[in-house]
Amino acid sequence: MFEVETMRVLVLGATGYIGSAVAERLAERGHRVVALVRPKPGEARVVPGAAEVRHGDVTDPASLAAGDVDVIVHASAPTGDEAVELAALDALLAGGARLVYTSGIWVLGAGAADEESPVNPIPLVRFRAGAERRVLGAGGVVVRPGIVYGEGGGIPALLAAKAAEQGRGRYVSADGREPTWPTVHVGDLADLFAAVVERGEPGAIYHGVGEEAVPLPAIAKAAAEAAGLGGAEAEAWPVEEAAGDFGPAFAEALALGQSVSAARTRKALDWTPSRPGLVADLAGGSY
Ligand SMILES: NC(=O)c1ccc[n+]([C@@H]2O[C@H](COP(=O)([O-])OP(=O)(O)OC[C@H]3O[C@@H](n4cnc5c(N)ncnc54)[C@H](OP(=O)(O)O)[C@@H]3O)[C@@H](O)[C@H]2O)c1
Repeated sequence: MFEVETMRVLVLGATGYIGSAVAERLAERGHRVVALVRPKPGEARVVPGAAEVRHGDVTDPASLAAGDVDVIVHASAPTGDEAVELAALDALLAGGARLVYTSGIWVLGAGAADEESPVNPIPLVRFRAGAERRVLGAGGVVVRPGIVYGEGGGIPALLAAKAAEQGRGRYVSADGREPTWPTVHVGDLADLFAAVVERGEPGAIYHGVGEEAVPLPAIAKAAAEAAGLGGAEAEAWPVEEAAGDFGPAFAEALALGQSVSAARTRKALDWTPSRPGLVADLAGGSY
């Protein structure tokens, strides 16, 4: 067993799905977590795992000064505006801490990819290409999670809610295709972020993917089971129709077929995702 150096880590998005799991895992591993949260009038913001809570907002670079921490984990929701994202990254980098930026697999576009593939972002995440470049150029680290699941949360919870609403499992599909999603359990992803904070290489890209390509029909069928609608096969939901519920850009993202490898990440950081897969978790786990 090697000694882990205790670090002071600022976490943006520490009240969110990914960030809260990361904050708790870092605290469990003995790091001092400083949570950066948006002030909410009349609400004391308590963040599990955080030793300190400080106010800030990604849209206000002056609130992001972080000269007093060793590492920053940026896992807050994106604004979608590249200029705003870059100004926030510059403010975070200015303090000299190592920056761990949460991107995502949608930056890779459709098809098969690994950590060395060129980016080809879909419109929803077009801003990510410039954001990743800025982070990597400054010696920061990029983590690209797959579709995150577990603890009843994330996009799979949305699919279960849609199945309950529509009385059947549906998966968004373009041109009748049956897409596949790269996925990761939120607990496994938290383990990866802890490894990146402790041992990540400057300028590296890490893929947070446990299963490379899970078929959407199987996910939608399991989402229907989670909604108490077991048995029937899931049906394709044409992307043009789903756009009415989700908006065109998010519907396109949900219809994206990808197979994303994390083999280099696993090897580099000795990361072994071990939680049950998405279909098992939806059909009989946390949803
Ligand atoms: N979930 C996935 O499957 C997935 C996959 C790949 C990549 N990602 C990326 O990972 C990141 C986190 O995703 P998530 O699923 O954990 O999102 P989430 O659950 O929606 O959490 C978003 C977090 O961002 C904070 N936030 C929102 N706007 C902010 C602002 N202007 N300034 C500071 N903080 C702000 C929220 O804080 P409040 O409490 O103040 O609202 C919350 O803590 C996002 O960039 C997302 O695109 C997610």
